[in-house]
Formats: sequence, C-alpha cells, structure tokens
Amino acid sequence: MTKRAHIIVVGNEKGGTGKSTVSMHLIVSLLGMGLSVGSVDIDARQATLTRYIQNRLGRKDADRLGLVGPEHVALPPTADRAGDEARLAETVAGLAAAHDVVLLDTPGSDHYLSRLGHSFADTLITPLNDSLVDLDVLARVDPETMRILRPSHYAEMVWDTKKARAIRGEKAVVDWIVLRNRLAHLDARNKQAMEKLLADLAKRIGFRVVPGLGERVIYRSMFLEGLTLLDLRQDLPGFELSMSHIAARQELRTLVEAIGLNKLAA
Ligand SMILES: Nc1ncnc2c1ncn2[C@@H]1O[C@H](COP(=O)(O)OP(=O)(O)O)[C@@H](O)[C@H]1O
Ligand SMILES: [Mg+2]
Repeated sequence: MTKRAHIIVVGNEKGGTGKSTVSMHLIVSLLGMGLSVGSVDIDARQATLTRYIQNRLGRKDADRLGLVGPEHVALPPTADRAGDEARLAETVAGLAAAHDVVLLDTPGSDHYLSRLGHSFADTLITPLNDSLVDLDVLARVDPETMRILRPSHYAEMVWDTKKARAIRGEKAVVDWIVLRNRLAHLDARNKQAMEKLLADLAKRIGFRVVPGLGERVIYRSMFLEGLTLLDLRQDLPGFELSMSHIAARQELRTLVEAIGLNKLAA
C-alpha cells in the first residue's frame, strides 16, 4: 500500500502573519518527533522557508550537530499556469508517497498556485497576528456594532477548495485551524473584542482556534543560523537557554498537540 502523508497547508491571504515562521517551527518539531517530512515553498518570491532550510542544511557543522531537514521543494511560478499547477500536483503527490507529513508554505496573496496548494490540505493552519486588522482576512466586521458582516474573500477561497477536493473525489473535510500569533500585544479591550469575534466567526465559517505563539525574539532571531529554539543545545556556539525559550518550547508542544500532530508519531 502506498503511504499517504498527512498534508498541512499554512496559509493566509496576508503577508507577515507568521506563515513561514510557523512552517519552519512545525517542520523541526515533526522531525524531532521522528517523522519524515516533505515541504513545499509556494511563496517562491519571498522564499523565506526555502532560505531558512538552506541556512540550516548549509551549516558547516550540520552533520556534527545532527541537524536534519525536510525534503524541500521550492516552486517558483513561471508564465505557464497549467505547467505550474501540474508541477505542484506532482510534487505534492511525490512527497506524500515518500513521507509521513507534507507541509506547504504559501504566499500572502491570492495566486493560482496558492489556491491549488490549499486544496491538498488535510489540515489548514492560518496564523493571524493578534490584531483586529488581521481579522479582516477572515471576515468583514462592522466597526460600529463589531458584528460580522460577511466572510472574506479568503474564507470563500477556503470554501471553494473544499469543492475542488470533492470534484477530485477526495474527502472534503478539512481541519481548518486559526492560530493566534504574536500574542500579548493587545490591550484588554481589544483582546476581548478579538476573542469574541473569533469565537463567532469560528462557528460561522467553520474553523477552530488553537493557542498560538507569543511574541518572542527567539522565533525570529535564528533565521540566518537556520536553527530554531528546538535545536538549542549545549554544544552550540553561544548556547543559552532562558525561561522564555522554555516557555516557547512549551508553546510549540501545545500547538503540535492542538493540531493533533502528536498522534501521527504514535
Ligand atoms: N511569534 C513571533 N514572535 C516574534 N516574531 C515573529 C513571530 N512570528 C513571526 N515573527 C516575525 O514576523 C515576521 C513575519 O513572519 P513570517 O513568518 O515571515 O510571515 P509570513 O510568512 O506570513 O509572511 C518575520 O520577521 C518573523 O520573524
Ligand atoms: Mg512567508
């Protein structure tokens, strides 16, 4: 029987919400759990995930440190839409046959490759900066009544991808998870408004909210070194494990469990 990987898509139609950061940290978490991982960077213009992985595997001490990475494919779009789409479908199918998990990092814009990528998701993770501005990606909110007016373009796109799956004869159930990123920036009033709106919206457009990542330097400081806080160990140059790092590890563990990825390793 061919192995069929669990496919995770990290998407949000807005840039800078933490898609690539969450992607890299999930990949390293999964590798650390002994799972084999394939990854695809559809956001080839920014190529943040691709560069993060290159920085990791290109380290001179990668072997000594026992650093492992995913089987990674970067897919920059060309002028040939049909060719691009075929290449993405083949890439995902190939990785899914060879690995336990395939993760796709997507651009913060509506693009045909992103739309097709979304249609492969068993789990769709949408990181949201913890602000009412970012909530706009999920729904239009009336600023006076704070009521939800209508789902956004992105929410409709997610809905459409379920139809695309149904047409391909695949199960249309996608576990859509909204992850609040960079927590701790809101004042109490905005925080309450955000929580209430997200809860309303979750029911209305069908996602669940999981505890996200705090605003922490450690999530962004090791990009050039190709490392994450999960790689910190005593034989690393400049090693230092702080309380914030330990809290961040706990956040990531909680996230992996909330998504249900710990079950994959069982
Ligand atoms: N939880 C976090 N704490 C601190 N910085 C973060 C966090 N999440 C993301 N960042 C930073 O925010 C910026 C945008 O993140 P990135 O993952 O590139 O977003 P996207 O892929 O959605 O465009 C980057 O500089 C990243 O290091
Ligand atoms: Mg990105």
